[in-house]
Amino acid sequence: MSKSFHIYDSFDQLFPLLEGKKEVMVLIDHGIKELYGHHFPYPQIVVESGEQHKNLANVEKIANALLEMECSRNAFLVCVGGGILTDIGGFVASIYKRGIKCGYVPTTLLAQVDASTGGKTGVNLAGLKNILGTFSLPEFTYISTSTLKTLPPRELLAGAAEMIKAFAIKDKESFAKAERCFRNGIDTSSPQFRELLATAIEIKAGVVERDFRESGERKLLNFGHTIGHAIEKCASACGDSILHGEAVAKGMYFAAHISHQRGLLSEEELKSFCSTLSTIGFDLGTTYPVENLIEAIKNDKKRGENGVDFVFLKEIGISCVEMTSFDELAKGIANVLHQYNRL
Ligand SMILES: NC(=O)c1ccc[n+]([C@@H]2O[C@H](COP(=O)([O-])OP(=O)(O)OC[C@H]3O[C@@H](n4cnc5c(N)ncnc54)[C@H](O)[C@@H]3O)[C@@H](O)[C@H]2O)c1
Ligand SMILES: [Zn+2]
Repeated sequence: MSKSFHIYDSFDQLFPLLEGKKEVMVLIDHGIKELYGHHFPYPQIVVESGEQHKNLANVEKIANALLEMECSRNAFLVCVGGGILTDIGGFVASIYKRGIKCGYVPTTLLAQVDASTGGKTGVNLAGLKNILGTFSLPEFTYISTSTLKTLPPRELLAGAAEMIKAFAIKDKESFAKAERCFRNGIDTSSPQFRELLATAIEIKAGVVERDFRESGERKLLNFGHTIGHAIEKCASACGDSILHGEAVAKGMYFAAHISHQRGLLSEEELKSFCSTLSTIGFDLGTTYPVENLIEAIKNDKKRGENGVDFVFLKEIGISCVEMTSFDELAKGIANVLHQYNRL
C-alpha cells in the first residue's frame, strides 16, 4: 500500500509525480545506477546492493549524504532498486529529521509485488533480518515494467512466487490466469502480465489497508513463509544459495499438503495447486531434514509458546490462519518429505 500506485512500461510518467517538489534526491544501488541511473536527472546517493548492506552503517551513510546535500525536512527521496533499496530508503526517509517524504521505484518483481507495498521499512541487525524498522508509507510507488527485462530470470521467477501467493490466498481466477500466463516463461511486456501484477498488488494493498499492523488478516500474507523462512535459514547454514521467492514456493507446496492433511484442502485442489507450481517452473524439492526445519521454525520471531500461526488453504483462493503445534508441523513436513522423495 502506498498513497498511489502507477504501473507503466517506461519512466516517462514518473516526472509529473515529482513536479513542484523542490529537493528531490535519488537513492539507487550501483548496479541499477549503471542500468537506469540516466533516467533520473536529480542528485543521486549510490549504495552497494546486497542483504549484507541493509544495515545501520548504510543508514548512517545515506543520512550523512542527505545532510551534506543540505536536505531539509521538505526533501523528497526517490528510492530506485530492489526490495533492499526500498526497505532501507523507506527507513531513512521515515527517520531523517523525524521524517521526509519518499517515493518508490521498485525494479525487481519481488519489490514491485511485495516489498514496496505494505509500509514496512527496515534494516538488519546482528545478522537478524529487519530488526530495526518502521511502518511508513511512500507517497507513491511507480513501476516501470521495462526494468524487468534486465532482471535475471531466476530473480523474475522468484518474484512471481509472491504473485502466486497473493492469488493462492485470495483469488482463484487470477491463480488460474497466472498458470496460463507463466507456463511458457514470463513475458513481462504482455498486457496479461501487467494485469496480474496490478491484481497481486491490489490484493496485498487491500489486506494491508484492513490490517496495517498485522494483528489479523495480514497474517495471511505469510502463506508459504513459515516453512519458506525455515528453508532459507537451513540453506544459509549449509552455504546453499536460495532466493526468498524460491523458498516461498517450496513453503507453499508444504503448506498446501499440510492443509490437505488437516482436512481443509481437498485432494483435487491440492493436486491442481501443486501442478500449477511445477508447471510455472518452481523447484519444489527440499533436502533439509525435518529436525532442522522445525528447529528453524522454533527460532522464528513470530512463534508462539508451543506453535505458530500457520496459514492454510481451504481452497485455492480461500485461506485461513490457525495456531498450529510444532508437533503437527513436524509430522506434516515429514510426510511431505517422504512422499516427495518417493516420486
Ligand atoms: N518491506 C517489505 O514488506 C518486504 C517484503 C518482501 C521483501 N522485503 C525485502 O526485500 C529484500 C529483497 O528484495 P529483492 O529480492 O528485490 O532484492 P535486491 O534489492 O537485493 O535486488 C536483487 C538484485 O537484483 C539487482 N537488480 C534490481 N533490479 C534489477 C533490474 N531491473 N535488472 C537487473 N538487476 C536488478 C539488484 O541490484 C540486486 O543485486 C529483502 O531484504 C527483504 O527483506 C521487504
Ligand atoms: Zn515473502
